[in-house]
Amino acid sequence: MAPLTELSPAGTRHVFGEAPGRVNLIGEHTDYNGGYVLPVAIPQRTRVTLAPRTDCTVYVESAQYPDASPLEYRLGNERRSGGWGDYVQGMTWALTSHGLLRGFEARVESTVPVGSGLSSSAALEIAFGRAIRAAFGLPLGDVALARAAQLAENEFVGAPVGILDQMACSLADTSSALFLDTRTLEYARVPLPPSVGLIVVDSGISHRHAGGEYAVRRRECAEAAARLGVPELRDIGPEQLHRVAELPPPLDRRARHVVTENQRVLDTVDALRRGDAVTAGRLFVASHQSMCEDFEITVPAIDLLTELASRVQGTYGARLTGGGFGGSVVVLAEQGRVAAASTEILDQYRLQTGNPGRVLVPER
Ligand code: GLA
Repeated sequence: MAPLTELSPAGTRHVFGEAPGRVNLIGEHTDYNGGYVLPVAIPQRTRVTLAPRTDCTVYVESAQYPDASPLEYRLGNERRSGGWGDYVQGMTWALTSHGLLRGFEARVESTVPVGSGLSSSAALEIAFGRAIRAAFGLPLGDVALARAAQLAENEFVGAPVGILDQMACSLADTSSALFLDTRTLEYARVPLPPSVGLIVVDSGISHRHAGGEYAVRRRECAEAAARLGVPELRDIGPEQLHRVAELPPPLDRRARHVVTENQRVLDTVDALRRGDAVTAGRLFVASHQSMCEDFEITVPAIDLLTELASRVQGTYGARLTGGGFGGSVVVLAEQGRVAAASTEILDQYRLQTGNPGRVLVPER
């Protein structure tokens, strides 16, 4: 790929924008219900090198998709085309109202895997948002940037996602979990106990969010909340599960997942703060079971991978992470057993499914 200097007028100032992928420790499908989430940044990152132009042209190359044609359009002329360029166009579309008035040339490099449920799209949005903010001096904080990215995704890309991924890619780091209240966007950093390590294994089954089952779950949750007479399922606590049980199926199960999952996030935060990995691991296992039986977003290979991971020596518990229907599992393990346990999990998964899968964290 041509170096950026060849793409832009000589002497133009280059800026960089970076953002990590994320793994959600617990709190799945709670974000669009006003609930709690607990993501951590992963070491894999997306990096954007950008040079401002004086006209309105936007030109972007991606090293992650070297075979795809570069993206080229005029600011204000964004058009959805179904590829990675939609996330870039969505961001320029969303940032125009924050003062983006001129075009740019940019190159994207990323080590965040696509289709593994680790937020490659939000990492791309936030990395672009940061580069654009730096290049044009946009007056946006990290939370406002996350909101702009969610708007881009909801209104431009057409994916009805919550704000978990955008907040995580904008604010999370790799050593602490970001305990986020998605209703108020208040957050606290919860350091991971030093004795605890994370393993992330990609099942090799690619997931999809836009439309499909994700949108169905979102509608079901909204309907359950309306029938229960509350603005969002966040407003139902575990003490009201008897009311949830009176909803018609599958709304009863969907709402039960959200109500119990919110409580599991709070309990996991308490457990991590106490350094109690055993309890946190049990909460992971309970969360997975709830996603399997009540929310019905797991697939057999992911159930198997989770089970294998929870049984390996030195692990505390495992669960599906992200939107579901494929993607990755996150495993809580003894720090000293992370390398050996991840190899063992992958070997057993390969043996039993014939699917290659791969360990994404720790990075190999
Ligand atoms: C996807 C969405 C998030 C969130 C998760 C499930 O990652 O982008 O907003 O809903 O699924 O927790």
